[in-house]
Amino acid sequence: MKPLKIAICGLGTVGAGTFHLLRKNRDLVNRRAGCNLEISCVGARRDNPDCDLEGIRVERDVMAVVDSDVDVVVELMGGTTTARELVLAAMAKGKHVVTANKALIAEHGDELMAVARLNKVHLAFEAAVAGGIPIISALRDGLAANNIEWLAGIINGTGNFILTEMRDKGRAFADVLAEAQSLGYAEADPTFDIEGIDAAHKLAILASLVFNTPLSIEAIYIEGITGLQTVDITHAEQFGYRIKHLAVARRRGTGVELRVHPTLIPESALIAEVDGVMNAIAVQGDAVGPTLFYGAGAGAGPTASAVVADIIAIARDNSVGSGSASATLVDDALQAAQAVLPPEDMETARYLRISALDRPGVLSAVAQIMSNHGISIEAIIQKEPHPGENHVPLIMLTNSTRERTLLSALREIEALSSVEGPVVHIRVEHLDG
Ligand code: HSE
Repeated sequence: MKPLKIAICGLGTVGAGTFHLLRKNRDLVNRRAGCNLEISCVGARRDNPDCDLEGIRVERDVMAVVDSDVDVVVELMGGTTTARELVLAAMAKGKHVVTANKALIAEHGDELMAVARLNKVHLAFEAAVAGGIPIISALRDGLAANNIEWLAGIINGTGNFILTEMRDKGRAFADVLAEAQSLGYAEADPTFDIEGIDAAHKLAILASLVFNTPLSIEAIYIEGITGLQTVDITHAEQFGYRIKHLAVARRRGTGVELRVHPTLIPESALIAEVDGVMNAIAVQGDAVGPTLFYGAGAGAGPTASAVVADIIAIARDNSVGSGSASATLVDDALQAAQAVLPPEDMETARYLRISALDRPGVLSAVAQIMSNHGISIEAIIQKEPHPGENHVPLIMLTNSTRERTLLSALREIEALSSVEGPVVHIRVEHLDG
């Protein structure tokens, strides 16, 4: 059997991880691939002292890789400009592409897939979402018989690490973020992690696969974790909830909700136990019911695990000689195309924290406004004022409410003279069907 020749582009954490995994598990990987997987070319501006490139063609200009005789170009550089050019050029030359680049797929995926189809090559991106968790193949293959009703994931390890450390150790936000950066989990621009952009990129990919929504983050409602206060993490726990940064895709009658935001989750839900840099994705299918996929979402080994799995899949397909493999790894959406709902039409239960004057009638005025808007209060806690303070926190959970209804009720509550400042509101997901 002819070897499958591979070019690895980028020798950072994931590139080096892939290089080492292909060497370390060489026999096993070759057996499973049905042929030898040979790293014959590397495209990297600089060497990585951890990778012995003896006998391998090295290109400092990564674009030169597409002129080599490789079968598969593995794009592990990150960024969306050179990466896009490289992937387009490689596919135009009939080379399969494997990438871990979520921003590239989320922003340019529709264009890249069209080119993959045209050139009858694979474009595989298992590593782009949740690192080592094989969620793309689970959705595309393992759950292919299901209508997916919703999925909800902790898909940014850095954000989850920050929230976990804040809750468990009372550590400061900036301090934990710096640690996540030094451990190599955070994006080159860490605002992508903490403002929810990274999670939105991954959600766009999952939703496009499951609901056939456009590959773009434009229509996704995105809220990061920078505005989250420790006091709300504590209050949420008193109600029996944990706060996680969740990416949610949920089918509704008229379209799909796509949103990324801090979320209260009942502490009895398995996903509420997912701490540190770990990722997890809960998927609800109409036949299978609830499922949960858990694992490391970042780091050299987990990401390389997904990259090499994609290379093996390409080798297997080549070895059975179909030769026109594009569709299998490219874009098998599980459902007909769905519209993305605008934020004002989305619907969730809410946690509210209202800073109210400690005097008779305030609670009833707030409750009246909620009632006027048809919002039900499911639970409520009012704290005693601290000595010397005349405002008290009024904390409540509501039933599931349309965004536009909730926001107009909040505007009225904020206008009460007995209420101070904006009302803190955080979405709640029960994840129970
Ligand atoms: N910055 C990402 C995270 C890396 O923290 O999850 C993996 O995509």
